[in-house]
Amino acid sequence: MKKALLIFQILIRAVGTVMLILGLLSWTGLDPTLNLIKLHMLLGILLVISLWGLIFLGLRTHISPGLLVLMFGWSLVLPILGMSQSQILQGSAHWVLQVMHILIGIGALGQSEMVGGRIKTRLEEEASKVHKRPVRKVRVSD
Ligand code: HEM
Repeated sequence: MKKALLIFQILIRAVGTVMLILGLLSWTGLDPTLNLIKLHMLLGILLVISLWGLIFLGLRTHISPGLLVLMFGWSLVLPILGMSQSQILQGSAHWVLQVMHILIGIGALGQSEMVGGRIKTRLEEEASKVHKRPVRKVRVSD
C-alpha cells in the first residue's frame, strides 16, 4: 500500500504543478489557441482519478472519514467549476471565478498532502504494531 500511496502522491504533485503552470500561462494570454487549456483539462481527469485513489487508500487505512468526504466533494466541485466557469459570471466580475478556481485547485493539492500524510502515519503505526507484537512461545512437546 505504501507504493500505491507514493505513486498517487507523485502523480498529484506533478500533474497539479503542471496544471497550475498551464492555467497561469493561459491566464496571462500566452495560450491564444487554447491548446494548453485543453491539455490542462485532460490532466484534470488524471488529477481527479489520483485524488480518488488517495481517498480509496484513506478508506482502507481508516483515517478520518470527514476529511475523505471533504476531499471527495472537493474533487467534484473542482472540475465542475473549471468546466463551467467560462460560461458563468462573464464580464468584469469573471476574475472572482478565476481566483476561486485557482484557490480550489491549490486547496485540492493541499488536502491531498494532508490525507497522504495521515495515511503514511497510519501505515507506520500498523507496521510498528506488527513489530512490537510479543513473540508467542511455542512449547514443543515430544
Ligand atoms: C479537474 C480539474 C480542472 C479542470 C477541469 C480545470 C479546467 C479549467 C478551465 C476550463 C480553465 C479555463 C477557464 C477560463 O478560461 O475561464 C482553467 C483555468 C485555470 N486553471 Fe484549471 N481546471 C482544473 C484544475 C485546476 C487545478 C488543480 C489548478 C491549480 C493547481 C488549476 C489552475 C488553473 C488556472 C491558474 C487557470 C487560469 C485562470 C482561470 O481561468 O481560473 N486548475 N481550468
